[in-house]
Amino acid sequence: MKYTILALAAHLLTTTSAFNLVQRESPKVLGLDIQRRHVVNPVARDRLRRRQKTVQQTLDNLETLYFANASLGSPKQNLRLHIDTGSSDLWANAADSSLCSRGDQCADSGVYNANDSSTYEYVNSDFNISYVDGSGASGDYATDTFHFGGQTIEKLQFGIGYDSSSPEGILGIGYAINEVQVNRAGGQPYDNLPALLAKNGAINTNAYSLWLNDLDASTGSILFGGVDTEKYTGTLSKLPIVSEGGVFAEFVIDMTGVGQNGNAGSISNKTVPVLLDSGSSLMYLPDNVVESLYTAFDAHYDQTQGAAFVDCNKADQQGSLEFTFSEPTISVPYNELVIVAGYQGNDPVCILGIGPAGDSVCVLGDTFLRSAYVVYDLDNNQIGLAQTNFNATKSSVQEIQSGDDGIPDASGVPNAVTSAAPGGDGARINGGPTLSGANSPSTAAAMPIATPHPYVGYGAAVVGAGLMLGFDGL
Ligand SMILES: *[C@@H]1O[C@H](CO)[C@@H](O)[C@H](O)[C@H]1NC(C)=O
Ligand SMILES: *[C@@H]1O[C@H](CO)[C@@H](O)[C@H](O)[C@H]1NC(C)=O
Ligand SMILES: *[C@@H]1O[C@H](CO)[C@@H](O)[C@H](O)[C@H]1NC(C)=O
Ligand SMILES: *[C@@H]1O[C@H](CO)[C@@H](O)[C@H](O)[C@H]1NC(C)=O
Ligand SMILES: *[C@@H]1O[C@H](CO)[C@@H](O)[C@H](O)[C@H]1NC(C)=O
Repeated sequence: MKYTILALAAHLLTTTSAFNLVQRESPKVLGLDIQRRHVVNPVARDRLRRRQKTVQQTLDNLETLYFANASLGSPKQNLRLHIDTGSSDLWANAADSSLCSRGDQCADSGVYNANDSSTYEYVNSDFNISYVDGSGASGDYATDTFHFGGQTIEKLQFGIGYDSSSPEGILGIGYAINEVQVNRAGGQPYDNLPALLAKNGAINTNAYSLWLNDLDASTGSILFGGVDTEKYTGTLSKLPIVSEGGVFAEFVIDMTGVGQNGNAGSISNKTVPVLLDSGSSLMYLPDNVVESLYTAFDAHYDQTQGAAFVDCNKADQQGSLEFTFSEPTISVPYNELVIVAGYQGNDPVCILGIGPAGDSVCVLGDTFLRSAYVVYDLDNNQIGLAQTNFNATKSSVQEIQSGDDGIPDASGVPNAVTSAAPGGDGARINGGPTLSGANSPSTAAAMPIATPHPYVGYGAAVVGAGLMLGFDGL
């Protein structure tokens, strides 16, 4: 779609109940197709990004989940970037980094060479992202011209991995407070991609929608500044993001129930904070809920593999799990939950896309997110949630307006629960000691030991996409 800032003369077509439904001839949005890549071993990958210090694995074989094409510099240097709602920096490997200068490990993700770009400008040398296994990337922050979805954004700040042990290029689109520059170097937040798009007026407000689509479909889309009302069914409900110690830093909302086969809450009515994380392959739920589900699916948990194996035929069974958030309920069909994890001879081996959270915060990763249309509204600290419309072929893109009513076609959920802070069960808030509590037993003996999700808070922080920043403040 052709974006033009001169589209302001466009007219208001419709208004629904309490919220602005704004359809313009040329909406101020930026859309981008995203593509899914097969993850060779999703369990190992998730474990890698969830654990600290306990896993010794390299990231060499790590494959990204959802990625988009983009480029940096003048002339353009092509990159394939992993779209990550769980981190906040864009970064790419330098062509002559320790990793990329040998072999062709960086061929898929692409590399950036500052000397080849006439628009490169040095910012500082504070870029340093560490992965949970100790690998990572460090180097400079710079600004350059960024091209994506047919658009050009000048002077976007990003990290260059001169010293790197990860082939991944990442487009982190979370809260600016989670940037490496803030967390590691104690610096000020800078405008990352969605923030800069909003500041430049390319979009009205710092918000975007993510539609991952069906497990059997390979592409979805991300829409900065807009909502595509054809990509979901029913209404879009607005839910408050839960702050952590008063700081909005991650996309955590309160889940109030889990049910099965259309019966919301039939498995649990307990309120738990959950992290919406596009960088996680599976979902991680409270251990007791997981035990019920394993029984229901006749899934067998293998501790050494850290995965629950199921009969692949379960994917053909009618049935669904229901996840309730105060009011809206997202239904996830069984066939989205059964994942082919490998082959034994010619026979597929399947795992259930649900793992036990143990002592860490619950995570709704891709096995949940594919069934939902999610709007991340960083300006208003709200999440818009609706049942996805799998394989939707039509499109009706609407602008998100600035202001707290901005998400088009969305209804606020009255009395939405926000009581359960992420630290409630997992002690994440100021939970320094539990960070290294990798050995605290999880309630179910047969469950794997799970570490807390990377911590967000003052002076220390965070992550995504397998990233964990330093814990200098702890
Ligand atoms: C990215 O570019 C590659 C190579 O040109 C192409 O095959 C792929 O379809 C593109 N992916 C997306 C999501 O646009
Ligand atoms: C860029 O060129 C300068 C001068 O030739 C050189 O010192 C520097 O190492 C080069 N940087 C990179 C990233 O290649
Ligand atoms: C980056 O951070 C890691 C972990 O804190 C540290 O060991 C490393 O020395 C840092 N690298 C640079 C270049 O500052
Ligand atoms: C969506 O499309 C894929 C690939 O064409 C197909 O396998 C899948 O069954 C479709 N899903 C639905 C819910 O129709
Ligand atoms: C949750 O609440 C609903 C509605 O009150 C009820 O039908 C259901 O049995 C409850 N679930 C559990 C696990 O207690």
